[in-house]
Amino acid sequence: MNAPETSAYTGVPVLVTGGASFIGSHLCEWLVKAGARITVADDCSSGKIENLGVIQGDIVFKKGDLRDAAFTRDVVRGQAIVFHLAAAHGGRGYIETHPVECMNNLLLDHTVFAEAARAGARKIVHASSACVYPTHLQTEKDRLLLKDSDAGFDEPGRAFADGEYDWAKLMGEMQLRAFHKQHGLDGVACRIFTAYGERENESHAVIALIAKAIARMDPFPIWGNGKQTRNFTYVGDIVTGLGLAGATLSGFAPINVGSSTHNSVLELCEEIFSVLGWRPQHFDFQMDKPIGVGSRAADSTFCKRALGWAPGIPLGEGIRKTVTWYAEANRDVRPEDLERRLMERD
Ligand SMILES: NC(=O)c1ccc[n+]([C@@H]2O[C@H](COP(=O)([O-])OP(=O)(O)OC[C@H]3O[C@@H](n4cnc5c(N)ncnc54)[C@H](O)[C@@H]3O)[C@@H](O)[C@H]2O)c1
Repeated sequence: MNAPETSAYTGVPVLVTGGASFIGSHLCEWLVKAGARITVADDCSSGKIENLGVIQGDIVFKKGDLRDAAFTRDVVRGQAIVFHLAAAHGGRGYIETHPVECMNNLLLDHTVFAEAARAGARKIVHASSACVYPTHLQTEKDRLLLKDSDAGFDEPGRAFADGEYDWAKLMGEMQLRAFHKQHGLDGVACRIFTAYGERENESHAVIALIAKAIARMDPFPIWGNGKQTRNFTYVGDIVTGLGLAGATLSGFAPINVGSSTHNSVLELCEEIFSVLGWRPQHFDFQMDKPIGVGSRAADSTFCKRALGWAPGIPLGEGIRKTVTWYAEANRDVRPEDLERRLMERD
């Protein structure tokens, strides 16, 4: 962090919705270092208060459901900036089997934005997602880098997200733009790409694969053919991007927060195996499982220009930290529990 960006938060009252989550808790640590006065609001439906362990004395924590306008009105009072991360969200297995909960994010986003506007907050930094991009730009064959302008509302062909979770995130951006247009508050939509790192749960691919490797599963189960790519982005980079975007951007501003490197799921597995010093003899490619788009990675041109920064933590380094954390956390997940965990949120 360098001085101008972090000083933007010194002494500033900041609300982090969903702050007890994987990404939210790392963001709170970043904001504490930047000198913000933080309130976290979370219903702990998937987030955990323990995630905030090291900074519990530095923040105010309020437990409640942000779809409840009275609760949200209470927590947003006096806040200058709202980082909105609360959402019904999980890995591919969860979002494909919980479309109703995912659509409910429309209500959650609207309640948070409306109460923030009513309370006079000046900026909302929204945890949007790479999933807002049209699916036809994310094929295994093409391996395109997704540009910030590839998703939007004003030209045909730019709004074609994948499923309910993805459309709700896209509509979250549209709601944010509406609040900017009508009420003038700044709306920064950070499109987070494929985050991984400490405190993530087994419903996401990286942690599920680490759990399977620690359990020495052989044949080693992989959802799909393993050739699908993602730009696995270490959580340290994700929260730096969120923090810098919140300090720097104004107006209605969508921005990619994710690496520009395509790595296949098989390449990711090799990084995990290399840290563990173990490799399975065989793979079990499970083609009947939810797989998602064929490729996904971010064009970081706008991010670099606007923030003077782009994600840069190498996959090998992030995976080493994550495997070490997971092994030490000793979560005692049995291989037979993993299938269920891949469909749940916690
Ligand atoms: N993890 C990723 O790769 C990724 C990618 C794109 C976007 N995002 C977005 O980033 C945000 C954080 O995701 P995450 O992966 O850290 O974990 P997560 O999904 O567990 O975070 C969601 C948080 O919101 C809380 N929450 C849910 N519904 C709530 C409600 N009604 N009221 C109050 N709190 C509620 C949960 O308890 C949790 O702490 C989410 O908005 C998610 O959609 C994450």
